[in-house]
Order: sequence, then structure tokens, then C-alpha cells
Amino acid sequence: MLIRISKNNFGKFNYITSVRCYSSQKAPTINLFGKEYPTDDWTNINKSIQDKLERNLIHQKYHPLNHLVNKIKHFFYKNYINRNGNPLFSVYDNFRPIVSVEENFDSLLTPKDHVSRSKKDCFYVNKDYLLRAHTTAHDNELIRSGLNCFLTFGDVYRRDEIDAKHYPIFHQCDGVRLFDKNELFRNAANEMDIFEKDPSNLKRTSEKQKNYTLDACKIVEYDLKNTLTNLVQFIFGTSSKINMKWVDATFPFTHPSWELEIEYKGNWYEVLGCGILEQEILTNAGAENHIAWAFGLGLERWAMILYDISDIRVFWSTDNGFLSQFKFDDPTHTKIIKYKPVSVYPPCPIDISFWLPEPSETFTYNSNDFYDLVRDVGGDLVEQVTLIDNFENKKTKKTSHCYRIVYRSMDKTLSLAEVNQLHKLIQTKAAEQLGVKIR
Ligand code: PHE
Repeated sequence: MLIRISKNNFGKFNYITSVRCYSSQKAPTINLFGKEYPTDDWTNINKSIQDKLERNLIHQKYHPLNHLVNKIKHFFYKNYINRNGNPLFSVYDNFRPIVSVEENFDSLLTPKDHVSRSKKDCFYVNKDYLLRAHTTAHDNELIRSGLNCFLTFGDVYRRDEIDAKHYPIFHQCDGVRLFDKNELFRNAANEMDIFEKDPSNLKRTSEKQKNYTLDACKIVEYDLKNTLTNLVQFIFGTSSKINMKWVDATFPFTHPSWELEIEYKGNWYEVLGCGILEQEILTNAGAENHIAWAFGLGLERWAMILYDISDIRVFWSTDNGFLSQFKFDDPTHTKIIKYKPVSVYPPCPIDISFWLPEPSETFTYNSNDFYDLVRDVGGDLVEQVTLIDNFENKKTKKTSHCYRIVYRSMDKTLSLAEVNQLHKLIQTKAAEQLGVKIR
């Protein structure tokens, strides 16, 4: 069934708004990924979040988010190759979402009193740890470990309202690219510099950071914007040119900063945030000779635009009507599919088993003929047909197939009588037209 969580029933879970009452009821530890963390007044992770921590949607084969992650990886692997012919960007998509306050905020220069730190907005494990609010939380550590180009993918957690566009867990992709002087200026590296020497230019402006030259900032800005517009064109614009516009933005960890908006089917959507990484972050991570760009994007938002999904809650659905629509391999990353909303009415699965006819001039059995017949008779009331059993009777040499037919209406709950009547008709027609013998 669809996971439907309205604001009201979400409130029914473990939220106890008064801190005093909350802490007196709280267990002394909270178990996350098999590890016990001590709780305190900051702890506010509820059961419904805890239950979803290990769902791992981006790694679930054929999940729409998994398709999107593969497309983004493919774009970077294909277009950015180093001198040895290897991908320039390393990919990290397996980090656990528990990060320290230092990683999520301090290492990214988020002011101590910044609203984004509040308990109202984040899921805290305790005063020192939280469920990451963005995948940018890993940037510092990865730069410190010596990487110059990397992408991180992962689930992120923000306490937010719940409706068709907001869900407390979603997924992001962050990218970072560092440049040293030679990479940035290539042949002109002798004449140009990343760092400003002229004291009169040692100031922060709308176009640059204090210690960097305007030239360096402009080249990095160009590379960043070029990378991202190409990525957007690759993902969304398989058949046409996408209109885009850059809008100035502010983030604690980048300057200058921008957001990118794209026009898709007549509407404008903001699809990512990015900028030139604050030099202090690089210096703190031991990469003081560099300049870098960074970006972050929300995967659900991209997938919703790409696949025409109007409700963010369906990404959590375990319903076959949803997942089966994305069951395809897409090695060339060009497949365009549009999602058809899954019915909220209950599914009604019924099995049908029959002996296949022995191949003759009149009947040569083929499963696709059966699928067509079911579609033909059942129309839109049939959501899915799957072959669930296929065996041969050793003595008689006869083959039997069993199919599960899932009946479901988009606009009402089907009665058993209605479904049985339809199912009977399918049995009769299959016997008549395909020569099968119902068991
Ligand atoms: N972390 C930001 C967010 O979650 C996105 C971002 C990443 C912006 C990197 C700039 C640089 O909205």
C-alpha cells in the first residue's frame, strides 16, 4: 500500500512537544544502526524516522532515485576523465547519515546561532550528533583525506511539514572540485595566480572572496556553471534544449553562491544550490593552496520533475504498482518514462494456473499472448500480471504456468464479486483463444 502520512497522523507518533515531559519518558539510549547512543534533551528522533533509516532507497535497484543516481554518476564518469583514463570524480554513496554537529555545521562555517541548527529543524541523536541535514556534511572530511574531486549521495533528514512536496527524509547529491594553480590556469599558470597579491584587491566583493583573485573566481565560476548546466541538459533535455537561469543565493559555506532554475513544461523549478567554497574551509581541511566549487542538489526534486511524480511520499512506497513502473534497464541513460499515479484503493491479487497446450498448428503458447489477453479483458482494472510458477510434469511432459493478476481500480474499491466475474472471463477466454487448460 501507499505510505500515506498526513500531518495529523505524523503528530501521533513519538512527538511529545513539551521538553520536560519528553525527556522524562525518554530511554537512556537510542539504538541506531545497531549502536547505542546516549540520549539527552536534544534527542528528538522518532520511531517513524528510526524505522526508515535502513531503507536505503538510492541503492534499491530500479527505484527511481536509483535510476537518477546512476544517470548522475554516468554523466560524471563519461565527461570527466583524468590523465590515466580513470574517472576524475570519486563517488561516496554509502556513508551512514549520523554526523557530528561539527561536521554538519561548524566545519561548514554555519554560525552558532544559525536557524538551521535548531532542534525544530533537525533530528538530533543527542547534543553532539544528528542525522545529517545535507550531504555537504561530508565535504570537510573528504577534502581533508586528500580528494580533489568527489560526489556524495545519501539520505538527509530535516524536520519539516509533510505534504506532497515535503518529507522529513529526502536524498541529496553533493559535488566538490578543487583546483590548484596549474589546473586552473594551465599554460598561463606562470602569469596568473589563485591568490591576490595586490593589497588594494584584498577585499570580499559580490564576485569574489577576499584572498582570491577575480580571475581565479571567474574561471571557477565558469567551470561550475558549465558543469551543472551540462548535467541538467543531460538529465532533463534528452530531446530538447532546457531553459535555465542563475539566481544569486547565500550559503554559509560558499561565496559567491547561486541557485539554478530550470524551465520544464512551462514551469520554473529551483534545482540546485552551489558556489565557490569558502577558502577558510579549504584551509581548515589542509588544502590551503586551492580554490574549489561545490554544489548540492535534491534528488527527489529532480526525479519528481523528470518522471512527473507529483507526490514525494510515493518514493517510500513498497507498492508494486509504483515500483514496477520503473523496472527497466537503461544502459544508455536515454529512456524517458512518465509515472502514472498508483491507485489509493486496495489491490486484489488472484492467481490463475493452467496447462499449456502442446504446440500445434492452432496453438503455440507464448506468455505475451496471455498478457495481451488479460489487458484486453481486464482493461485498466488490471494493474499487474506476473508469472509466479512454471513447472513441467515429468510423466506427462505437460507444462503448467501460474500467473498472479493484481486487480485494482483507480477510482473505487473493487468488490470481490466484480473481480471474480472478470477473473472467470479471463479464464474462459484464455481457454478458448490460447488453448490452455485451466487447473
Ligand atoms: N547544502 C546545501 C543545501 O542543502 C546545498 C549546497 C551545497 C549549496 C554545496 C552550496 C554548496 O541546500
